[in-house]
Amino acid sequence: MDAIHILGGNALFGETKIQGSKNAVLPVMAAALLIQDVCMIENCPHISDVYHMQQLLESIGCKVVRSDKTLTIDARNILEDTMSGDHVTGMRSSITLLGAMLGRIGEVTMAYPGGCVIGERPIDMHLNALRRMGVVIYEKDGCFTARVKALEGAVIRLPVSSVGTTENVILAAVMAKGVTVIQNAAKEPEIVTLCEFLREAGAVIEGIGGSVLIIQGGHRLHGIRFRVPADRIVAGTYLMSVLGAGGHIFLEDAPVAQMRSMLRVAEEIGAEVHVTREGLNIIAKEYKKPIPYIKTEIYPGFPTDMQSPLMAVLSTCEGESVIEETIFEDRFRIVEQLRKMGASIELRGRRQAVIQGVDSLLGCEVAAEELRGGAALVIAGSMALGETVVKNCHFIERGYEDICRDYRNLGVHIFGK
Ligand code: EPU
Repeated sequence: MDAIHILGGNALFGETKIQGSKNAVLPVMAAALLIQDVCMIENCPHISDVYHMQQLLESIGCKVVRSDKTLTIDARNILEDTMSGDHVTGMRSSITLLGAMLGRIGEVTMAYPGGCVIGERPIDMHLNALRRMGVVIYEKDGCFTARVKALEGAVIRLPVSSVGTTENVILAAVMAKGVTVIQNAAKEPEIVTLCEFLREAGAVIEGIGGSVLIIQGGHRLHGIRFRVPADRIVAGTYLMSVLGAGGHIFLEDAPVAQMRSMLRVAEEIGAEVHVTREGLNIIAKEYKKPIPYIKTEIYPGFPTDMQSPLMAVLSTCEGESVIEETIFEDRFRIVEQLRKMGASIELRGRRQAVIQGVDSLLGCEVAAEELRGGAALVIAGSMALGETVVKNCHFIERGYEDICRDYRNLGVHIFGK
């Protein structure tokens, strides 16, 4: 798909089912590498990042078979210790294979990971934490090699509660000798999913969901069947859409328990949200209140991944809203694109955006520069009068299985070509 065309300006009505979570399935796929057995992972979304992770696993010797939404990963034989190429450099999550490879074979050489350009995104914390477990790391020709004779449990205090670093340390720690304690661990739901997967496979992990994780390494892991939970950020995207365009939608399977901060924002803007056993009902009015101040935070605060989608909504809320981005230092890339559509947004440095609500956005051609910013442009397109064309859709395909299908289910005139 090259571009998404949207005829916007109408309220949303309908229902759609929420796909499995990208940021949960990727570390779970990496974790399957630790298991000298076969795992079946259900509810895997059809997105390009999952495809990249599949290719990476296959490149080192795993057998991976996809049948609709189920991936069967056979990691009994690992034949390679080197990973490079587009599958590594094109996706941030490739870094979780570092901890998994160290846990499984004690060695890996890989290119530096890529992913969305939303800030510097270094991997210093990952490397420092693993060094505490006995890993030696050296760099050569744009790649790095990490090696360890035997991983050792350690007490590791993360300077920032980084999602990826927490995942990497967990993956190494379940195979290490002794106990590992991670202090200031990330508490994001995707960390909980990874721990649950490993626990079901035989790992011993305490403190799941909290900021201190205690992992007893060295337990033998066995193959399991595991279901990936629904994607809170995809559900949040459609929630933001109905807030922006108005209407009444139902999001089947939306993981509402993980979406509290987003639901508070929805109510503050003026929508009604009703949680049912099957999902989330949202009734949004045409009149929307601004949000005087909101900042992105680690979980359970308002997620950075929802910041651009919220900005699109606030661009037509009557009055002034302020968003502060506290996680990534370069995540206001859609401001220029929203301005093209008529939004009034002023940046104060790289961390604050001041949004003055305008009557309506106007459709035009815009370009995605990263995944969530791209989704935010589709939201803006569904709100805008006339036709919006969103270019660079490959960014969106990294995380949304079929965004056009989902929006059509919600009554939007949209197609990709
Ligand atoms: N950081 C460092 N050094 C490190 C690691 C992180 O300075 O070694 C910094 C980052 O630059 C950032 C902060 O620490 O400023 C937090 O980054 P974190 O490590 O938590 O983020 P991540 O693991 O790279 C994951 C998600 C992101 C999501 C963030 C925050 C995946 C694959 N990615 O990234 O999701 O925004 O956590 O919740 O799980 C997305 O899905 O579009 C996406 C970007």
